Amino acid sequence: MSNSKELILTAEAPKLRAAVVGLGMGTAHMKAFYQNPQTVLAAIAGKELERLAALAKEFKVEKTAADWQELVDDPTIDIISIATPNALHHPIAVAALNAGKHVFCEKPLAITAEQAEEMVEAAKANNRILEVAFNYRRRADIGMARELVASGKLGRVYHSRISWKRRAGIPGLTSWFTSANLAGGGAAIDLGPHIIDSLFYMLGEPRVVAVSAVTYGELGRAGYGAMDNSNYTQGSAGEFQVEDLCSALLRLDNGSSVALEITWASHAVDNEDISFELLGVDSGLRIFIPRYATENTLSLFGDENGKQYTRKPKVSSTGEGHLAVINEFIEHVVSGDFASHAGDYALHRTAIIDAMYRSAKAGKEVTL
Ligand SMILES: NC(=O)c1ccc[n+]([C@@H]2O[C@H](COP(=O)([O-])OP(=O)(O)OC[C@H]3O[C@@H](n4cnc5c(N)ncnc54)[C@H](O)[C@@H]3O)[C@@H](O)[C@H]2O)c1
Repeated sequence: MSNSKELILTAEAPKLRAAVVGLGMGTAHMKAFYQNPQTVLAAIAGKELERLAALAKEFKVEKTAADWQELVDDPTIDIISIATPNALHHPIAVAALNAGKHVFCEKPLAITAEQAEEMVEAAKANNRILEVAFNYRRRADIGMARELVASGKLGRVYHSRISWKRRAGIPGLTSWFTSANLAGGGAAIDLGPHIIDSLFYMLGEPRVVAVSAVTYGELGRAGYGAMDNSNYTQGSAGEFQVEDLCSALLRLDNGSSVALEITWASHAVDNEDISFELLGVDSGLRIFIPRYATENTLSLFGDENGKQYTRKPKVSSTGEGHLAVINEFIEHVVSGDFASHAGDYALHRTAIIDAMYRSAKAGKEVTL
């Protein structure tokens, strides 16, 4: 009996040692690596030292650091998981990949397309995985829409409308989120990665060829639009360096188009509403997600024998996006198939957002 137990123990593959940088959204990463039987949460880093100690205790972490570099320099770490302000994604990921580690990174991949390209190149040059936390694509409604598009139910999807609209959702004037250097932008780079990723995932990965966009920072600069729990005082303009609204038209390589609108704040009725409308020749669909709703969010519209129909297939999402994407990332690391997970699709999302900012700045359409 004891012999067979020993045999099982010695046959067990050693667990992958993961380190998480960042103590905000990073806690979702910590939970996932802590729970997964194939990983050990070995180290965490962050600037808030009391919180760092409390999280180390909660997740039984061996090692803590105030700065990311110490974790990247640790040869016993296999995985670096990044949940820091956007501008740090690039230096941490490139250093980690060059040190031979696999990288899981929060969205956006980077603050510019050039940085994102360097990250993907580093993943490929070192034969390591680079994946991004696109947790919204794990929603059941997005998955159902992807299947409907792939099955041909919609026919040719010639135009899509996507939006994420907040009435008062600026994440905090004194935080890194409204600093141009640290965030790389405002509403578009914060909320855009999720809706852009989900749309291109549903559409089967067409490529964007041209972008025309406008951005405004009117409400933030005037002191309106703070998120409820932010430390930003209503009416105090403070230093608001980024946009609170972005509107764009994207032209795709298959001849179709996308109209996009993202607001952190606007004097309008929408209040934390996410919407995807896919207009196909044979039918159309809408996913409407008011205030992060998880139930019955998908509608199908069509015309059968001259009679219009609207159907609402039953769909319910779990809201466990981070757990699902990190479990999948770990499976990819364990599989040894690194080449097909080097961050190419995340680079496409960052290139689109980069082009939106370039177009808004130039005041004209730009090509990718
Ligand atoms: N996928 C999602 O749904 C989702 C949701 C929220 C945020 N995010 C992303 O997560 C990232 C972090 O956002 P957040 O809301 O957690 O921000 P946050 O401000 O709450 O946390 C940032 C963390 O980074 C740490 N940090 C900063 N500099 C560091 C350094 N040099 N070394 C080590 N740690 C350092 C800070 O100490 C802090 O703990 C952003 O890129 C954001 O876009 C993603």
